[in-house]
Amino acid sequence: MEKKRYLTGITTTGTPHLGNYVGAIRPAIEASKNPEFDSYYFLANYHGLIKCKDPAQIQQSTKEIAATWLALGLDTDASTFYRQSDVPEVTELCWVITCSTAKGLMNRAHAYKAAVQENEQSGETDPDKGITMGLFSYPVLMAADILIFNAHKVPVGRDQIQHVEMARDVAQRFNHHYGEIFTLPEAVVDDSVAVLKGVDGRKMSKSYNNFIALFSTEKALKKSINKVRTNLLEPGEPKDIDDSLVFELWQAFATPEQVSYMEDQFKAGIAWGQAKKELFELINGQLQEPRARYEELMAKPDVIEAELQKGAEKARERCQTLMSNVRKAVGLSKIK
Ligand code: TRP
Repeated sequence: MEKKRYLTGITTTGTPHLGNYVGAIRPAIEASKNPEFDSYYFLANYHGLIKCKDPAQIQQSTKEIAATWLALGLDTDASTFYRQSDVPEVTELCWVITCSTAKGLMNRAHAYKAAVQENEQSGETDPDKGITMGLFSYPVLMAADILIFNAHKVPVGRDQIQHVEMARDVAQRFNHHYGEIFTLPEAVVDDSVAVLKGVDGRKMSKSYNNFIALFSTEKALKKSINKVRTNLLEPGEPKDIDDSLVFELWQAFATPEQVSYMEDQFKAGIAWGQAKKELFELINGQLQEPRARYEELMAKPDVIEAELQKGAEKARERCQTLMSNVRKAVGLSKIK
C-alpha cells in the first residue's frame, strides 16, 4: 500500500526555541521514525523572504534551523529534508496554481486580513500599505509546497489550519478544471503536544521576546530559566502546579514519574530557586548531547549543505512526474 505522505515547512526566520522544539520539532522527528509514513520536512526560505528582508539573517536562520534538526537526530535517509529554494519546481507550480486561485480566497487569509486591519486601525488611508504580493500570496506558495508532493497530511499549529484548507480549495478547483492531478491535503493538529508558554506567561514566541533558546550555552539556558515568572510564595509554602510556568515547563520535558515527583515537591513547598535549578538540570540533561552535535555542525557548514543537497536531489526526483502531469494538463508541454 502507498505510504501516507506527511509534509511540513519551517519558516527560516529566527532561532529555534524550546517552544518550537516541544511543539513542532520533537513530534516531527518522532514521526519521521515511523516506517508507515513518508515524511517531508523543508526549510521554507521563500516564506522567510516575506517576513525578513535581511539576507544575513535569512542565511543564518536557515543554517541554524538545518543544524538543529540534524543535531536532534532527524534521519535524513528515512525522510526527505530539503530547502525550499533548492526545488525550483515549487515556484513553477506556484505560478500555475496562482492562475487558478481566486483572489477572493486570498482576501480572506488571516495574515493578510490582520495586516490590513492594522493599517486601518492606525488611521492609514491606504489599507494595503506595506503589504507585499508575497504576503498576499503566501497561502498559494504554501499550497505549492504541499501539492508538489501530493502530501496527504500536513502537521501544523492551529494558526496554519486555514492555509492548509486553502491548499485543499486550490487543489479541488484545479482538479475540477484540469482533471484529477492533486491529492487533497488535510491539516493535522496534535492536541497532545504542548504549546509552551514563555518566561512571561504568554505563548513562547520570538515576537514576544519571551523565549528560551534551544541551543544557547548552558549558562544562557540557566539564565533564561531563572527569568521564568513565579509568584512570591516563600520556601516551605505549598505551591499550585496549575498556576506555575515552572511546572508547565517541567511537564514538557519530564517522564510521568518525574511529573509526580515534582507535584510532591510543590505540595511540600519547594523553593522557587530549587525548582528552577532542577528544571534547568532536567532540560539541560536532554539538550547536552544534541547541543554538542549542533555546535559541531555549525562549525562544519559543508556537512549541513551536503545533507540539504542530498534532500534536494531526492525531493526533485519525486516531483518530476507530478510536474510533468501539471504541465501537460494546462497546456505547457512540448509542441508535437
Ligand atoms: N507557513 C508555515 C508556518 O509559518 C510554514 C510553511 C510553509 C508550511 N510552507 C508550508 C507548513 C507547507 C506546512 C506546509 O509555520
